[in-house]
Amino acid sequence: MVDRAGRRVPLHGPEEFEALHKAGRLAAATLDHITPHVRPGVSTGHLDKLIEAYMRDHGAIPATIGYNGYPAASCISPNHVVNHGIPSDDKRLAEGDIVNIDVTVILDGWYGDTSRMYFVGEKIGVKARNLVDLTYRAMMAGIAAAKPGNTLGDIGFAIQSLVEANRCSVVRDFGGHGIGRVFHDAPHIDHFGKRGQGLKLVPGMVFTIEPMVNAGKADVKILSDGWTTVTRDRSLSAQFEHQVGITEDGCEIFTLSPAGLTQPPYALPQEALAQGEALS
Ligand code: MF3
Ligand code: CO
Ligand code: CO
Repeated sequence: MVDRAGRRVPLHGPEEFEALHKAGRLAAATLDHITPHVRPGVSTGHLDKLIEAYMRDHGAIPATIGYNGYPAASCISPNHVVNHGIPSDDKRLAEGDIVNIDVTVILDGWYGDTSRMYFVGEKIGVKARNLVDLTYRAMMAGIAAAKPGNTLGDIGFAIQSLVEANRCSVVRDFGGHGIGRVFHDAPHIDHFGKRGQGLKLVPGMVFTIEPMVNAGKADVKILSDGWTTVTRDRSLSAQFEHQVGITEDGCEIFTLSPAGLTQPPYALPQEALAQGEALS
């Protein structure tokens, strides 16, 4: 099976699904782990250090360090940053920010890639809340369309139609991707599209669904660091990412949160909050 660009699309069997599930679960657990630390005043560099330590403590390698020269274990993208925000000790999160944290592990040679939005503090504006909620629902609508017999176009259509019905826009410059023993593999997953178009989905395909949704226009630009992508109109942007494997009757989500965290605000056990207090 090949994608539109003629690249081979790998198909994975049950044992490979199991290995991918382990990698995905560790990536999701990494996002769980840092949740209590995402608070006003924390630097994104500090969060990145916690992320890297957690991955290594669990026998994994941070996939992004050195990937095309990328310098960190995570991408941390607040407010109008669309994706690939580089963590820095000089960049502190503030009350009212919304922020995406995207992590990828390599565990026993297999990649696990996931991201979530977080609320920083409690005073999150209604526009920001609605954008984050819409983006989560858009990702889940894409996942609901990820089943045998459907096409990549069905996934893109499900996402785009929901987003545009809510007067927001889907970023077109970045998409999801096949993933397995390779970080960014075939096929490319557009988060927009037409019903019935594109590659037909078959059991064994593994890819990410990671829509970036802008409150304003879809246009983006990359800053001079070569990574940080922002909205051209400086409107807010949100993103969630899950990694899925197509099964006989739908798909399996490899990156579900072991702690049951889906979208913010995240209700945390008192214990986790106290630990966050002590560690940050
Ligand atoms: N994790 C991102 C994705 O979802 C890729 C980050 S690559 C980096 O595909 F180099 F920017 F880290
Ligand atoms: Co990805
Ligand atoms: Co990612």
